[in-house]
Amino acid sequence: MPGRRKHTLLLAGLALALATVSAEADSHGGKKKPELISGASAEMLAAQCDGCHGPNGASGGPAIPNIGGHDAEFLMEQMKGFASGEIPSTIMGRIAKGYTDDEIKRLAAHYAKQKWVPAKQKFDAGLAKMGAPLAEKYCEKCHEDGGRKADEGIPVLAGQWLPYLHFTMADFISGKREMTKKMKKRVNKLMKSKGEKGLNAVLEFYASQQ
Ligand code: HEC
Ligand code: HEC
Repeated sequence: MPGRRKHTLLLAGLALALATVSAEADSHGGKKKPELISGASAEMLAAQCDGCHGPNGASGGPAIPNIGGHDAEFLMEQMKGFASGEIPSTIMGRIAKGYTDDEIKRLAAHYAKQKWVPAKQKFDAGLAKMGAPLAEKYCEKCHEDGGRKADEGIPVLAGQWLPYLHFTMADFISGKREMTKKMKKRVNKLMKSKGEKGLNAVLEFYASQQ
């Protein structure tokens, strides 16, 4: 994946920043707790994420997804899935392991409150047009409102970064990331009738949404 090296560097920077913060907390006589930062507010915790995910979780992209404005339940599931290794990742697995369940809950609530900022990105207008009715037919049942729905564990797709949609869809299809049975059925149907081009068209459609 391009940018992996950049992520590694960012991660090193992050680790350093965290080490500094916890050292400061210790020097103020704070008791050692399993949390990286004892009693940190949601905003303090989120500051560590915004470094990669952008201000209030609106990513400058393209390989790092928007998280501000996602559904809280979805955010919690993702973080727990990254931490357990159930959801494949380049770096989130290592990051998510550093947070307690309570911190994850607070982070999820914090990001769910933010406004979703659709990515300003290039897309293939022809493919996006082809993808619109396919998204309606195969995905809209759950990803309602043209992929804008952020509720009941459903992630926003409208205006998510296209490279991220591609990476994560490839993980789903290869079986590295597990799809819900019902989503799998729909994705398989789409692939059977329209092939990879059909799926790409659907992703271009979501990427085109503002
Ligand atoms: C060093 C950069 C970096 C930092 C710091 C970071 N992330 Fe991520 N995040 C990523 C990348 C890259 C991905 C894509 C998955 C992967 O490859 O790890 C991602 C994916 C995610 C996703 C999945 C979103 C989706 O739509 O599927 C969530 C949720 C998330 N991060 C939350 C957080 C939270 C909360 C924090 C802070 C505790 C955080 N991230 C810190 C880089 C980062
Ligand atoms: C039966 C409901 C359902 C259908 C139909 C469905 N999805 Fe999903 N989708 C989900 C749920 C729930 C999640 C989040 C939880 C998970 O990872 O399984 C999700 C997650 C995703 C993600 C990951 C987004 C992220 O930020 O991590 C993508 C991409 C996606 N779906 C694309 C599609 C596409 C494209 C279609 C149509 C071909 C589709 N889905 C149809 C329920 C559905």
